[in-house]
Amino acid sequence: MKYEIIPSLLSVEKKAQHALDMIKKSARSVHIDVMDGIFVDQKAFSVDKVMNLRTGLKKTVHLMVVDPEGEFMEYALWGADTIIFHIEAVKKPALLISKIKNEEVKAGICLSPKTSVEKIKPFLDSIDVVLVMTVEPGKGGQELMLPMLDKIRALRKLKKNLDIEVDGGITLKNIKQVKEAGANRFVVGTEIFGQKDPLKAIELLKKEIS
Ligand code: DX5
Ligand code: ZN
Repeated sequence: MKYEIIPSLLSVEKKAQHALDMIKKSARSVHIDVMDGIFVDQKAFSVDKVMNLRTGLKKTVHLMVVDPEGEFMEYALWGADTIIFHIEAVKKPALLISKIKNEEVKAGICLSPKTSVEKIKPFLDSIDVVLVMTVEPGKGGQELMLPMLDKIRALRKLKKNLDIEVDGGITLKNIKQVKEAGANRFVVGTEIFGQKDPLKAIELLKKEIS
C-alpha cells in the first residue's frame, strides 16, 4: 500500500500558485477543492482559476458541485489526474465513472459524513479511489469527526487494495489513528498551510505515517 500526504489548496486559494511552487519539493500530488456555492455554501476554484495553475504535480480535483456530469470535462481537459465527485450529487454514478475513465483520468467517489458506505458499494470495483469526508464538506479548519473512521474500517474490509483517501481535519495528532483505521492517502489543508513552515509540516506528517 502506498501512503501519501496530499496538500489541499483551499486555505491558500488566493496564493495558490505560490503554494504550489513551494510544496513541489515535498509533495507528489495536490488536492484542489472546486465549490460552486450551491452544493456547499462557499465558492472555490472555478475552472478559470484552475486553468491558470501550473503544477508539476499530480492533480486531484474534488468536485463539490451540484452538476459534476456537466463540469468534469473541463478539468479533464486541463490535465487533472484524478477527478472525484460526490455520490450525493449524481443520479448515474456508473455512467459518470466511465465517462471520466474514457478521458484517461482516474475516477473517485466522495462520501459526505451523512452518507453510508452502502451507497457506494456497487461502484467499488470500478473506481480508483474513495474519498471519505471526515468533516462536513465546504470549508477547511474543522475538527475531524472520529465516527467517520468506522467507514474507513468498513471500506478497508471490503477491499484490501483500494486507495482510501481521507479529507478534513487531519492533524499531526490524529493522522496515525486515521492510518490505523485503514486509510492510505491523507488530504491536509490547515495542518500544512496554517504553519509557519509548510514544508516542515509535510515532513512531520510523513514521519507519523512512515
Ligand atoms: C473541505 C475540503 C478539504 C479542506 C481540508 O471541504 O474538501 O479539502 O481543504 O482542510 P483541513 O485540512 O483544514 O480540514
Ligand atoms: Zn477536498
